[in-house]
Amino acid sequence: MTRCPVIPVLVIQDLALARPIAQALVAGGLTTLEVTLRTPCALDAIREMSRVDGALVGAGTVLNADDLARSVDAGAEFIVSPGLTTQIADAARRLDIPFLPGIANAGDIMRGLDLGLSRFKFFPAMANGGLPALKALAAVFGQVRFCPTGGITAENAPEWLAHPAVSCVGGSWLTGGAFDAARVTLRASEAAALRA
Ligand code: 3PG
Repeated sequence: MTRCPVIPVLVIQDLALARPIAQALVAGGLTTLEVTLRTPCALDAIREMSRVDGALVGAGTVLNADDLARSVDAGAEFIVSPGLTTQIADAARRLDIPFLPGIANAGDIMRGLDLGLSRFKFFPAMANGGLPALKALAAVFGQVRFCPTGGITAENAPEWLAHPAVSCVGGSWLTGGAFDAARVTLRASEAAALRA
């Protein structure tokens, strides 16, 4: 979470683009990449992207322990899930892999703390009340750090990153539209510069 200010959230439809997308993002300075398990080629995309020098590739949209095990087999180095279950938290601990679960409220965070977790994805960030909601949660849970995701854009990312409890943000804006390596690298370099 502290490696880069922005984690690109990637939905890879075409496996042939996996490596070029990772290369373009890394060239711009974003090296922590979340590949969502929302497409048939997602696990293969994790394998491909893991071969790109400098890329730290994880799996997102990991919904259960089976997804988690498959992601680790494919080479994922961290796991992101939209929510938090005891089963998936236990699986992450068993396989000793960094785990960033989604939380939406104080009860979710308390369950996470009970499970030994203190780093969470605030999801879906904008729909859940945006920065005012995060500020209210962060005031209560001083030891917790967040990665807001869901509705984060190049325009609003700086406001989120200015909050001390926000270690990084996640978003899909870096790779929107038809793939254009130069454009992805430009967006990545702008995002990487959001926090010195
Ligand atoms: C996701 O997991 O899909 C993220 O929330 C991405 O959301 P975004 O498309 O609003 O950036």
